[in-house]
Amino acid sequence: MTEALGEASGKVILLGEHAVVYGAPALAAGIERGARARATRCSGASALLLGGRELRAAPAEEDVARAFAALLGALPDVGPVRVEAESDLPPGGGLGSSAALAVAIARSVAALARAPAASARTASEGAAAAHTAADAAAVTDAAAAWERVFHGNPSGIDTTAAARGGCFRFTRAHGATSVAPRDDLWLCVGSTGVSSSTRSMVELVARLFERKPTLAATSIAGITALVENAAFAIEAGDAVALGRLMDLNQMLLAGMFVSTEAIEALCKLAREAGALGAKLTGAGGGGSVIALLPPPPPGNRGAAASNGAADRVLAAWRDAGYSGF
Ligand code: MEV
Repeated sequence: MTEALGEASGKVILLGEHAVVYGAPALAAGIERGARARATRCSGASALLLGGRELRAAPAEEDVARAFAALLGALPDVGPVRVEAESDLPPGGGLGSSAALAVAIARSVAALARAPAASARTASEGAAAAHTAADAAAVTDAAAAWERVFHGNPSGIDTTAAARGGCFRFTRAHGATSVAPRDDLWLCVGSTGVSSSTRSMVELVARLFERKPTLAATSIAGITALVENAAFAIEAGDAVALGRLMDLNQMLLAGMFVSTEAIEALCKLAREAGALGAKLTGAGGGGSVIALLPPPPPGNRGAAASNGAADRVLAAWRDAGYSGF
């Protein structure tokens, strides 16, 4: 049976969420956790298997089914497909679960479209095909169509992170440019345990900015300055400065009413346990927090490095009833 695989990474937004929707720059990085999809040809209507449920692309009623239909509609026609997808990112957790699923699904379908119908191609060959440059634009468009179903005005940063991974600066106008960290960035991700809707949070900020245009302008200008300075700090390997900039970004986000008590508690616990800075990541209103850790001593870097500060932050979160990684 012809089948093709797609995969994509989750993301953390280091600085700049919400302002990025209004054209400001943001910094993001792909994370190892992500989503995977396997596409096969089928007869009848196209179907998506996700979280133990099978959803038909038509008739498309609920959001995921509509998003799947929109995604397929934006790809070259491949005929009816059956896609099994899974993510190890919590939905509504601020880690780009929806975008990672969209990119993984679109990659698997794009790879299937390129596979000869009767070939005995292996899954890994299919996955490799999905990453060719020819597919990239179609995958991005398809993932954007999926994301628009979940929130009307996505900046594109989540799908960009899912598709490219790595550390990058992003604007709506110019897309992604790589930022090369001088040293590894050590982050802990903490969960509020509350699922949050990106659509609701983006709409909340839109309503606030409509009512208070001065607040909008000052918040966006402030976040823009923090993001540009943070890009310098990352390239210069100045983790202390980066941590301070993250704290300041968190203050501005709280001023836009997208923080919560749990987010503030997670940030405070992390700072007290030795983090250099902490902030919400993603849309806020729940979801996740990132905490920047001091880098381990030079003799303890590389793939097998351990970071004592990470253990302390994770223990502080665990003792207060929160999970993290
Ligand atoms: C969500 O991960 C990031 C937001 O800035 C929305 C977006 O950029 O589309 C809140």
